[in-house]
Formats: sequence, structure tokens, C-alpha cells
Amino acid sequence: MRQLLFSVFITLFIVSCNTELSNNQMKNSAQNSTKSAIDYKVDSLLAIMTLEEKVGQMNQYNGFWNVTGPTPQDGDAAKKYDDLRRGRVGSMLNVRGVKEVRAVQKVAVEESRLGIPLIIGFDVIHGYKTLSPIPIAESASWDMEAIEKSAKMAALEASAAGINWTFAPMVDISRDARWGRVMEGGGEDPYLGSLIAKARVRGFQGKDLSSASTIAACAKHFAAYGFAEGGRDYNTVDIGTSTLYNTVFPPFRATVDAGVMTFMNSFNELNGIPATGDSFLQRDILKGKWGFDGFVVSDWGSIKEMIDHGYAQDLKDAARLAVIAGSDMDMESYAYVDRLVALVNEKKVDVALIDDSVKRILKAKYELGLFDDPYRYCDEAREKKITGSKEINEAALDIAKKSIVLLKNELNLLPLKKEGQKIAVIGALANDKTSPLGSWRIAAEDETAVSVLEGLQNYNKNEYTYAKGVDVTTGRTDFVYELDINTTDRSEIPQAVAVAKKADVVIMVLGEHGFQSGEARSRTQLDLPGLQQELLEAVYAENKKVILVLTNGRPLALPWAAENVPAIVEAWQLGTQSGHAIAQVLYGDYNPSGKLPMTFPRSVGQVPIYYNYKNTGRPNKQDDRIVFWSHYTDEENTPLFPFGHGLSYSTFEYSDFSINNEFNTNGKITAQINLKNTGIFKGKEVVQLYIRDKFASVTRPVRELKGFKMVELTPRETQTITFELKKEDLSFFNNEGEFIFEPGEFEIYIGGSSITTMGDTVTIE
Ligand code: BGC
Repeated sequence: MRQLLFSVFITLFIVSCNTELSNNQMKNSAQNSTKSAIDYKVDSLLAIMTLEEKVGQMNQYNGFWNVTGPTPQDGDAAKKYDDLRRGRVGSMLNVRGVKEVRAVQKVAVEESRLGIPLIIGFDVIHGYKTLSPIPIAESASWDMEAIEKSAKMAALEASAAGINWTFAPMVDISRDARWGRVMEGGGEDPYLGSLIAKARVRGFQGKDLSSASTIAACAKHFAAYGFAEGGRDYNTVDIGTSTLYNTVFPPFRATVDAGVMTFMNSFNELNGIPATGDSFLQRDILKGKWGFDGFVVSDWGSIKEMIDHGYAQDLKDAARLAVIAGSDMDMESYAYVDRLVALVNEKKVDVALIDDSVKRILKAKYELGLFDDPYRYCDEAREKKITGSKEINEAALDIAKKSIVLLKNELNLLPLKKEGQKIAVIGALANDKTSPLGSWRIAAEDETAVSVLEGLQNYNKNEYTYAKGVDVTTGRTDFVYELDINTTDRSEIPQAVAVAKKADVVIMVLGEHGFQSGEARSRTQLDLPGLQQELLEAVYAENKKVILVLTNGRPLALPWAAENVPAIVEAWQLGTQSGHAIAQVLYGDYNPSGKLPMTFPRSVGQVPIYYNYKNTGRPNKQDDRIVFWSHYTDEENTPLFPFGHGLSYSTFEYSDFSINNEFNTNGKITAQINLKNTGIFKGKEVVQLYIRDKFASVTRPVRELKGFKMVELTPRETQTITFELKKEDLSFFNNEGEFIFEPGEFEIYIGGSSITTMGDTVTIE
């Protein structure tokens, strides 16, 4: 009781200071002062905090059941509750559901000396309980409105379950499909990735962070985590300055521009410095150059891991290095909570650094409205009403349809006829209600997705016969444990072949199980796991009318399928509404409009493969007999499916490309093209604009996406599509990190994918 009264007193004290201050603040803001009402509140609170309480704010504990990293050192709930009471915890992750959140919040608010509310974090990566497609899939929609809406729905459902902070968006650019976490990001391109990053921040945070239905976002993993050597998760990163500035940083910078509240650093080292201990990244770039005023949370245990990296001597040294480098909150290293007070007392860490971190954390809590009402996100009635609501499911279905990419469509196999068809549905993944949920879906229940088979059967009365063929994995399909994928059982292949034989058309659903991509799920092969390729070839040998529906969390290398199978639909892992979305697309009630956000290789040996590569000094074969050019002796250089590729049931014709170069007079170049729907269906096309800066003081890629427009056309309709390019579109970062423009020759291309050749050159003097 005593503590409760004290905490009420403190709150009133702060509030009264701040009512006065808020008027001043308004004046200040008119004078362009940077100190806001919240800053004053934060300062007042900071002034009465002990060092131990300050350090407590910088400590984040895992909850009591979900584990999203190596087993926590201390699973002891009693100790955690005790620390909550002592003000030694600023945040918890993996506590979810109003009841559980309220329980921990109550202890922090009502039983600790200052009653500072916790910020409750959770990996709301692509939805909370109702799942939308995995992020790489959503990125394939190229539809920023739909992506924003999806994040908004995720925030709505998560906030209703007591969560007020998501560890998303993941904005790591990656060019390596072996890396399991490509499922979580926006793909390989910094321009598209930046737009997606912004859309997701807007979706999560909305316009008013203090609203009960918005949550704080977290841009992660800063930085360069997507460039792990060999695509092996957590591995060393060693990339050059030009890639760092031009490819890795832009989406992170975009989230700062969009007002992202928090950042997470990353597990990897970069140029010999673990990101968590890297002050160039966190202090010079993020908080310095970019002026980020939110806080940085470490990744799970990444402070402690600096010992294994060979950077910190012990946990205390790790705490010192991390806080000096600008990591404000410690997730599950137990480094800050146990070591920072001593480090300050021993004068090894300046208390000003602690104050800065704590201010940033408290500011976020104020902005979320947690000081006004710590139980703002804890309303059981709201939780009941919102979880799994119609609105959320409808949005999940909408973006699921938009995420599908039609890779190939021959023999007029698609769209399917709605009546009188005998359809064989083959593959374990066709009948799977868990895999479509994908990785990172810790709040969703197993078996809650609509399977492809269900989606089709609900759709119409065509005759469907299902055969599994082979299993995708034999072991546990689990987020935490190793998977066993060495399936050897071929016994049901003959039955699948027999089912295919009797069918008018065969839908084969093959790919990766939802847990075969994601964190710590790197692969050296990009094929169909297990015996699925064998199944595909056996079925195809019997019936060539195969529609291959791929469900996977990363680009796959499927040259045989690309060459032989007439129709291929990339359906990723589409979340709760998966089967409904796939059925609507296969039957043409949604005309596919997705485009690949990542290059699909022909073979693993080509990886990293990406559209915006550098030309090299020997790009072409000069002479048939001479071997000395940049190539493989056993594989082409070109991808299987390029970045930006995606078909529609309509066909689109591009013509009349023209450029108007007014750069020197009006500071702009206008490029335009006519787009005609030459098919029989109404359809959408993502028209893409690429540039190539032909020579520069730092070499530039052969293509760079600089704009795109989603255009919907009815059959025979033509539209003129116009793009404008300005100086910043033609600029780049030099190796000093300066954004510069250099006159010269620029090629400009417009088309339906990154390999378009429709373009021209302009010269800027
Ligand atoms: C991941 C983060 C995630 C965190 C908390 C880590 O293993 O790298 O992306 O947010 O766990 O679950």
C-alpha cells in the first residue's frame, strides 16, 4: 500500500509539473525548441530515480513460456517477479494475453517504488493470432496500402492482447536465399525495401501511438544481418562501405523518417565489430547522422554473445561495450541488470550514457500512453472482440491474394475452369493447416490456417481427389527444435501418380514447410526438400497438366520445374487465409498481380544472385573460343526468374517509350510508356522504372529500381504511364557516406520486370 501511494504521488507530481510545462512546451515548439512536454516529464522522473532503477529500465526479461532464443539463463519466475518489484525490469517480451500482461504490469506499476509501467514486446511479425502472409510474400504484392493495412491489423489484434511493442519490421536486405530469414524481410532491393519498411511502420504505429490499437515498431536488425557469409544464420558479415551505405542502410533510414520508435541491433559482426557493440552504427549513424531519438534494444542475448565473438572479455566487459556503443536495452543477456551499476560506480561507464538510454526508454513509454494508463492495452472485452475478428481475417485474405506471384502459365491451364473438372490435389502441403502460418507466428495456434485442399473444396463443386505422395519432413515441425527432413518413404508415390492419371488437371502443392525457413533455418540446398522433386517428376510423367503451387519462405532453385511444368504459382506461406486466397487466384476471381521481390536462382551456386549487380570489367563473352569473362562454366549467369517478374492472366504490351530530359532547366527527367492490356481479363500490372548510372566515382549497379506504379486495365485498354526522376533519384552514397550527384550518362528503362530492355540513355552535363 505504501508503495502504491508513493507511486500515485510520484505520478501526480510529474503530471502537475507537466501540465504547467505543456503550455511552455507549446510555446517552445513554436520557437522550434526540441524539448517537448514528454521530455520534461522524462526529466522529472529521471531526477528521482536511483541508479539501480535507471539500470532496471534498461533490462528486458523474457516471459515465462515462449522462447525465441537459446534457453534463458534464468527461468525462475519468482526471481523475475522480485526484480519487477524492485524496479529492476523495464520491459518484458513474450508475455501475452491480457491476463498475463496485466499480471506483470500490476507488479511493476503497483508494487515497485516508482510504479513505472513496463513496455511489453512481442514478435508480431506478420500478424498476432490471425496471420497474414510472411513478410517476403507481402512484399511480393508491391502494394504499399495493403502492406500498411496488414501491419495495422496486426497491431490491432496484438494490442488487444496486451502487447504494445512489436519487434518488426525486419528491414534487412538480403541477396542470399540460403539465409532462412529472408522470409521475414522485404527482399533484395533497397528502394522497394524502403517503401515497405515505411508502410509497415505506418501500419503498426498509426498516427497516434497512444491509441490502444497502435503499437511501437522496431526496425531490425541493425545492421547488415542479411549478409551473413554463406547464408548461414548469425554468421560473420564482411561487406564493403558502398554496399553498407547504398543497400543496407536505406530501409533503416526510411524507418527513421517514418518515425519508428525503436531499433534492434543484430547478432552479426561487421568488419570485426559485433553490431551490438558498434558505436559507428548506433551512435555515429543512427543516433548521430540520422537523429534517431528512440531507443535501441539488443537482440536476444547479443550483448553476452560478444564474449563468443571474441570482442568482450566477460559479461561485465560486454555490458560496458554495449552501453558505450549505444545499445539502450538488454534483451536476455542479464548483463545490464547485473553489471551496469558496478560499472558506473567504478567510473567505467559514464552515468550520462545511462541517463540517455533511460530517457529514450521512458519517452517511448510516455508516447505509448502507458503513464496515463498502464492498463491501456489490457481490456479483456476488447481482446475477446478483436481477436480473430472478421475485419482482421478479411484484410489477411486480401493481402494473401495480392502476395501470390504467377511465375509461369502455359497450356492455358490457369485460371481453372469452374465446373466439370476432375482435379487431383497432390502433396502433403496441400492438406496442411499449420505450414501456411509460416515461421514467426508464436501466438497463432497450430492447424488454424485454411489449407489449399479446404480452400478448393469450399470453393466449388469440381471433383477433387487428394493424395499426399510424400511427406515434406519426418521430424518435428517446430520453431525451436531441429527439423529432420530426410524423408525416405516413397510408398505413397504410386497412389499419387494413379490419382493424377484420372484427373483433367493436377494441382501439386510443394515446397518448404513453414518452419523450414525463418531464424536459424539456413539451407545449403534451394530445392524441394525431401522427395518432393521425385514426386513431381513421377506425377508429371503421367499427366503433364500440372499446376505447381509453391509454398516456401525463400526463393527456390527449381530449373526442372521451370522448364517442364506448364504452370507455376508462387504462393509462399500466406497465413490464416491461405487456402481461400490460393483458390480464388487459381479460379481467376483474383487475377494475380504479384512480382518477385527477390531473384530466383537457377542453382545454389549462383547465390548471392540479385538484379542490381555490378557489371565487372569482363561482363561479356568476347569470342566463342576465349574463356576469360565473368561466368560459370556449368551454369548461365541469368536467374531462373528475375526480380520484378510476375505474370497475370491478362497480357500487357509495353510500347512508345519516350524520355524528356529537362534536368538542366526544370531539374527533372520524365520517362513514359504506353501500357496496353492485350488479354481478355481485367488485370493489374506493376510497371517498373530502372536506371543505370553508366560511370561514376564509385561503380553503380547495372540496374536500380527508382519507381513503380500499379496500373489496372480492362481488356484492350491502354494507359500512358509517366515517371519523373529528380536529382536525388540519380544520386548515390560515396564511400564517405555522402549522398552525391554526379553528372554523366544515365540509362532509363521501363517494363514489367528488372530484365526489361525498353529504354534509352540521357546525358546530364
Ligand atoms: C531474433 C529477433 C527477435 C528476438 C525476440 C531473436 O532471436 O533475432 O528478431 O525479435 O529473438 O524474439
